[in-house]
Amino acid sequence: MAITILSPVERDRMRRAGRAAAATLAYVGARLAPGMTTAEIDRMVRAHTDKLGGRPSQLGYQGFPAAVCVSRNDIVCHGVPSPNVRLADGDIVNIDVTTELDGYHGDTSATFVIGDAAPHARSLVELARAARDAGIAAALPGARFGDIGAAIESSVGAAGRIVEVYGGHGIGRAMHMDPHVSHIGRARTGHRLREGMAFTVEPMVNAGSAAIRTDADGWTVRTADGALSAQFEHTLLIGPHGPEITTVLE
Ligand code: MF3
Ligand code: CO
Ligand code: CO
Repeated sequence: MAITILSPVERDRMRRAGRAAAATLAYVGARLAPGMTTAEIDRMVRAHTDKLGGRPSQLGYQGFPAAVCVSRNDIVCHGVPSPNVRLADGDIVNIDVTTELDGYHGDTSATFVIGDAAPHARSLVELARAARDAGIAAALPGARFGDIGAAIESSVGAAGRIVEVYGGHGIGRAMHMDPHVSHIGRARTGHRLREGMAFTVEPMVNAGSAAIRTDADGWTVRTADGALSAQFEHTLLIGPHGPEITTVLE
């Protein structure tokens, strides 16, 4: 497995693509409201990405029919926007935005709470955010990929179940590249992280069991037991002293 090391010029492109994805996620996140259809979210993502001069990387990716993944409540990931699905008060919903700008990609997601959600839903959201951030904190040059998975596992502990089938991924000139970044793992195992690598950390954390199933549409991944799932994602660039998050606003 060859993991690409990005040149300084490429790193700048990654920063710009990351900022664009983050800007679109923030734009959409600020406009979510009960009653909105998930197809309206898709329209907002298309329009905002276009305004920034980018292209939604997910649109048409392996046949994915939309510009954004919208994953509500028991949907773990890859939720397909639909004119028939409306956000409701108390929902949690992950919006996953990936933007291609000048040939490079930025990939970021957040789970938003719609209106008044139950305490257990809110704490699952915070658990997933903390898991992502613990994984990022472990992404130090010289560390190994197993350190990231181990940090996520210990952050989640017994409070939730980490989905094992899906992981983060290398990213650069393509949205999905080597390596697969597992959200579980053993410290001091796996490939070494090096300056100039770029990859995502994006743990999915379930409130019930880790088991998942895919809908007949071939995309929508749900918890097998119908319990809630939450996820957060950033794209990282490994710097000389630690991870730089590309998917942040200036
Ligand atoms: N943005 C997603 C990820 O984090 C990619 C989903 S692929 C799609 O890797 F085709 F479903 F969009
Ligand atoms: Co990703
Ligand atoms: Co993503």
